[in-house]
Amino acid sequence: MTQELQSIVGSAREAFAQARTPADLENAKAQYVGKSGRITELMKGLAALSVEEKKSRGAAINQAKQAIEAALAERRQSLADAELELQLKAEALDVSLPGRVREPGGLHPVSLTMERIEQIFASMGFDVADGPEIESDWHSFTSLNNPPNHPARSMQDTFYVDIQGDDGIPYNLRPHTSPMQVRYAHRHVKKHAALVAAGGAMPEIRVICPGRTYRVDSDATHSPMFHQCEGLWLGENVSFKDLKVVFTDFCRTFFESDDLALRFRPSFFPFTEPSAEIDIQFQSGPLAGRWLEVAGSGQVHPAVVRNMGLDPDRYIGFAFGMGPDRLTMLRYGVSDLRLFFDGDIRFLKQFR
Ligand code: DAH
Repeated sequence: MTQELQSIVGSAREAFAQARTPADLENAKAQYVGKSGRITELMKGLAALSVEEKKSRGAAINQAKQAIEAALAERRQSLADAELELQLKAEALDVSLPGRVREPGGLHPVSLTMERIEQIFASMGFDVADGPEIESDWHSFTSLNNPPNHPARSMQDTFYVDIQGDDGIPYNLRPHTSPMQVRYAHRHVKKHAALVAAGGAMPEIRVICPGRTYRVDSDATHSPMFHQCEGLWLGENVSFKDLKVVFTDFCRTFFESDDLALRFRPSFFPFTEPSAEIDIQFQSGPLAGRWLEVAGSGQVHPAVVRNMGLDPDRYIGFAFGMGPDRLTMLRYGVSDLRLFFDGDIRFLKQFR
């Protein structure tokens, strides 16, 4: 290669090295091997030479051209590598970071219990009804045969809100689901009023009312907000025996155990007469042998039946109120009620 050609190759290499982008590089290339690049011009000059000269000069120019093209290819590659590297840096991922997983949700254990209770009672022909958590004094107490200033009210000390009812007594956060007995009965009586007026028999009332309840109470087994589920079965011929059958059936289905024992222990509630606490006893498992209280119950008091707008000489039945929180603790072996309301995902996940 002549000195001239070598210097062209040298300057091409330098120009390529200085190109910072693929576009720069293509511009630099054009100056050497483009349509009117320096090498191309030299090729054109060959035409004027003799055959012999053409051969040797042509070969030399070709050699120079190849050297330039090799330099070009090399620079193209290194620019492409650099660009890729920059891109990778910009899009860098820290693969050691913990992933953002979207875990499947699940129902709260108490909600699972509520659903279970509803299913079991629905299968026994019970309706499911909802009611207000902010309740009138009459519904929470007086209608349930628990008049103002009666000492039995202290069994259910609750919270009051700054809204007064028509009777001038503030509304309360219902301390039990029992007011739903009276609310539902009123609804039922109204619904069937035409039928009864026409001489027909009113269908029996058979309902459960699950929901949130409130009391001034807070420890490992009591929370100021908790859950209850009321039950009511009222008709012309419903007896305590029916209560025993229904509740025994419910408990055995709920706990999936046929050898569960039940005990109806005499007690007092203003709204029932006679009244009983319902205790259950597991025959096996960690709680075997202990009597565990799960509900209050009794035959609906005539005064309550009257407040429902019904004749206590004609309608008779039973009611019960159970604690779904307690049932959940027993079913899953949870020892502290507060776990249900802390919202700790590690606890709640276990019920998914
Ligand atoms: N309301 C009662 C309580 O909160 C439970 C209860 C007892 C409900 C007897 C009833 C019943 O319907 O008949 O302690």
